[in-house]
Amino acid sequence: MATDVTSNPNKALWEKGDFTRIAETMRESGEALVKSLGVTEGLKVLDLGSGDGTTALPAAQLGADVLAVDIASNLVAAGNARAQSAGLTNLRFQEGDACDLRDLEDDSFDLVVSIFGAMFAPKPFDVAKEVVRVTRPGGRIVMGNWIPNDPTLVAQILKTSSAYSPPPPEGFVSPMTWGVESDVIARLTAAGVPEESISFERDTYTFNYAGTPSELVAEFRAYYGPTMNAFEAASADGREADLQAELEALFNSQNTNPNGNATSIPATFMRVTVMV
Ligand SMILES: C[S@@+](CC[C@H](N)C(=O)[O-])C[C@H]1O[C@@H](n2cnc3c(N)ncnc32)[C@H](O)[C@@H]1O
Repeated sequence: MATDVTSNPNKALWEKGDFTRIAETMRESGEALVKSLGVTEGLKVLDLGSGDGTTALPAAQLGADVLAVDIASNLVAAGNARAQSAGLTNLRFQEGDACDLRDLEDDSFDLVVSIFGAMFAPKPFDVAKEVVRVTRPGGRIVMGNWIPNDPTLVAQILKTSSAYSPPPPEGFVSPMTWGVESDVIARLTAAGVPEESISFERDTYTFNYAGTPSELVAEFRAYYGPTMNAFEAASADGREADLQAELEALFNSQNTNPNGNATSIPATFMRVTVMV
């Protein structure tokens, strides 16, 4: 299901940069998360908002039959290239929108995973309805969502970026609301899931980069759509240097790597598990 980039700012945002450059710093945490999911041979898995496969690839390597869906055509192409070079015939990437999974049948997956993926789709109630619809009764949904106002890296990048960006259009629902338990419960119960089937846990993803924190800021500035947009807005206001300084201070203060030339930054997220 291809979506028109000219009329879809959600798609344009993620096709703008090259998220692979950021995803490369997240591979170890992606693998660790997948190991914790109890993936078994032949399990039917949907990875929604998969990017180039940080979680989809390890799930397929554990023997699952994985469909990875993402709105960004460049990341779908990158994912398929990664699957091919890893020799995985049980992993396929295709384009699609988490708000409307019309190409996918009801009850078709044992496990739906969406790690910092579906949270970025603009219509959260539609997303909840769709993920529940495609999960078979007895199946599971696992989402990883950044938490608003959390002091760790990604929430702070997004907060800083929005301070330099124009106000969002009317009706815009912040992706960060997927990190608020009451919002998650409202969306999933509206999709028919009993509240007692939803559980929440704080978890950590670590960004590992073979360069300094300032060099990692440069990667975000050049390749991460939300940060690229923030720099564009900041430069229109003559505030580019302020944004750069704020991000460098943030990345440097959060770096836990004792080697001055490498970066490891842990970031807290909300892991949501839904028994369907
Ligand atoms: C922060 S990245 C995370 C990617 C991947 N899950 C990972 O862990 O590396 C967000 C991803 O969500 C995708 N995305 C954003 N909105 C989407 C939507 N409406 N439907 C499907 N994918 C979407 C983006 O294209 C991007 O690949």
